[in-house]
Amino acid sequence: RPRVVSGVQPSADSLHLGNYVGAVRNWVDMQDDNECVFFVADLHAVTTDQDPATLAQRTRVTAAQYIAAGIDPERSTLLVQSHVPEHAQLAWALNCITGFGEASRMTQFKDKSAKQGAENATVGLFAYPVLMAADILIYQAHQVPVGEDQRQHLELTRNLAQRFNARYGDTFVVPEAKILAESAKVYDLQSPTAKMSKSAAAESGLLRLLDPAKQNAKKIKSAVTDDGTEIRFDREAKPGISNLLTIYSALTARPVDEIVAEYEGRMYGHLKVGLAEVVTETLEPIRTRALELLDDPAELDRILARGAEKGRELSVATLASVYDRMGFLSRA
Ligand code: TYM
Repeated sequence: RPRVVSGVQPSADSLHLGNYVGAVRNWVDMQDDNECVFFVADLHAVTTDQDPATLAQRTRVTAAQYIAAGIDPERSTLLVQSHVPEHAQLAWALNCITGFGEASRMTQFKDKSAKQGAENATVGLFAYPVLMAADILIYQAHQVPVGEDQRQHLELTRNLAQRFNARYGDTFVVPEAKILAESAKVYDLQSPTAKMSKSAAAESGLLRLLDPAKQNAKKIKSAVTDDGTEIRFDREAKPGISNLLTIYSALTARPVDEIVAEYEGRMYGHLKVGLAEVVTETLEPIRTRALELLDDPAELDRILARGAEKGRELSVATLASVYDRMGFLSRA
């Protein structure tokens, strides 16, 4: 069966709606026909400053949300990145075939390091996309379901796989990004030309999976809308309404056109009320289930320990073959 790999960083107290719509939601159905590995990217999270106790807790919280959203730890492999040392080991090997200039061109690195001040950015932040390539290649993934903002990192991953294969012989599957057209980018409710992100300028622009439904409904109702009154999809002229329509469509699995037709002749406020209901219906069961799972951290840790074991089984052979091909003397 084709292999699928993806992950989210545990760098906030909750996943946001962008993570859910752009990534996690799409993982759920892929479990039927693929062999999936979903992990919590804690090694990636420490590329920016993290409080240790908070990071450990957020790692559990992130895993709980995967399960609550429909990731089945029996069918899929659910693990914490740092529990499978092969990720970091492969990353080192890949660092040594990545060009400095090539890594310097990653736009996410440029944005994040500019925000921190170039002098404060760490080597870890710089090498981040290479670790991401390792996460994917160590499992011989065929498909990687992510949001639009990860496209460039997937291109780098493909280049590294091809380069390694050309230099040392066929070793890696060259993976494909699976980025769903419309829903791959959810925008901030308050500034609908910026992507929804945990570091949003205004708290009110961000919907979190673990926030109370009322709080999210309120944010939707005060979302920025556009000039005019007509409800139609037009990213250029109507970024606010288009974002609401995209979210509505993604969560109901209904085409945007159908939603536009339903709201024809009605006001922006009606669309917001409708969307608030849809978001509540989707997120409430996830929130409830995640909180239940977090009531029993020992059981969650057992699930993650099993996932780590499965993950190692899937990854040791690839790492051994990489080491062998690169000429590392095998230990007697
Ligand atoms: P991260 O933690 O920033 O985001 C996790 C996933 O959510 C998607 N996403 C969005 N999708 C739509 N609209 C948005 N506003 C939005 N914001 C975030 C991201 O595209 C991503 O799919 N480097 C990755 C984590 C990672 C990874 C990997 C992913 C590490 N190793 C290997 C796939 C495979 C990251 O920081 O995602």
